[in-house]
Amino acid sequence: MATILAIETSCDETAVAIVRDRQILSNIVASQIKIHQQYGGVVPEVASRQHLETINFCIEAAFQEAELDWSAIAAIAATCAPGLVGALLVGMTAGKTLAMVRNLPFLGVHHLEGHIYAAYLNEPELEPPFLCLLVSGGHTSLIRVRDGGQYEQLGATRDDAAGEAFDKVARLLGLGYPGGPAIDKIAKQGNPQAFILPEGRVSKPEGGYHPYDSSFSGLKTAMLRLVQKLEAEGEELPIADLAASFQETVARSLVKKTIACALDYELKAIVLGGGVAANSALRKHLQEAATQHNLQVYCPPLNLCTDNAAAIACAAADRFNRGETSPLTLGARSRMAVTEVAELYL
Ligand code: KG4
Ligand code: ZN
Repeated sequence: MATILAIETSCDETAVAIVRDRQILSNIVASQIKIHQQYGGVVPEVASRQHLETINFCIEAAFQEAELDWSAIAAIAATCAPGLVGALLVGMTAGKTLAMVRNLPFLGVHHLEGHIYAAYLNEPELEPPFLCLLVSGGHTSLIRVRDGGQYEQLGATRDDAAGEAFDKVARLLGLGYPGGPAIDKIAKQGNPQAFILPEGRVSKPEGGYHPYDSSFSGLKTAMLRLVQKLEAEGEELPIADLAASFQETVARSLVKKTIACALDYELKAIVLGGGVAANSALRKHLQEAATQHNLQVYCPPLNLCTDNAAAIACAAADRFNRGETSPLTLGARSRMAVTEVAELYL
């Protein structure tokens, strides 16, 4: 059993959590969304400065909520890649400094490994092997998890990530930032069959399609053309129908690829992770399709799908229990594949 204090500052959430293996003892998330909303997206410099102002309060709050002091902590973890480097550096520097001052081991954590581990929290029976559909603002991947910490990418997006597509289409529909939750909300009042849109498929040069890869650029263009056509006809835009149809198309396309991949690789369990895992249509369709094929689905609760430090702590706890730690010389990296994650540990 390991009690880990983890810090997550890779984008626009300053998050600190204390987790004992898979049990959340505290989970503090200070969202910067309101600050970035006025710019229509995350401004990296503003994010770093905001993390710096908030981080110490979040650490204090995590101890208060857990009703613990430093004597309970076995190791400190911080997200080290991928993400905005300036933002990552704030959490990394805080984590490494505390590790030195408190004489505790330090672990850098890959942000996507955190998203995969969100499903482990409060889920004692989940164990690899499983297939993870990881859908966030920056990534869309199908990852086979063979064993704890061992990842193989089976599918990816060729252009935008799913969350990025939600954010861009939301901007097109005048729904603001972040787009995913806004589309999800208004789509509840719309008809998902109102417009037939193209599901992103990636062609092979020799013919046929890559079965597990996604593409959202065609769908995005189709949405733009549709909006332009409706505007040219002088009609008021049916925002709810447009949002519902777009969301339905993304969800169905992701579910189709995920189920095919799980069946082909004979994986009985599917784990959903990343901010877009909070999407209600995706959760519903995945659950329905999995039930049809006798597959088990693990969807983290909504607050653990988007960025948080509890999932980072949970990933770190697994590594720490296997005897892994990171050197204090570890740097922050804006890009890094989850398949390279072993490089972070001694
Ligand atoms: O995982 P996350 O919090 O940050 C990254 O690692 O990128 O994901 C953020 C993304 C944003 O693009 C946001 O629009 C999307 O997740 N998102 C959603 C929903 N909630 C958040 N997309 C669709 N439906 C949602 N309910
Ligand atoms: Zn994330």
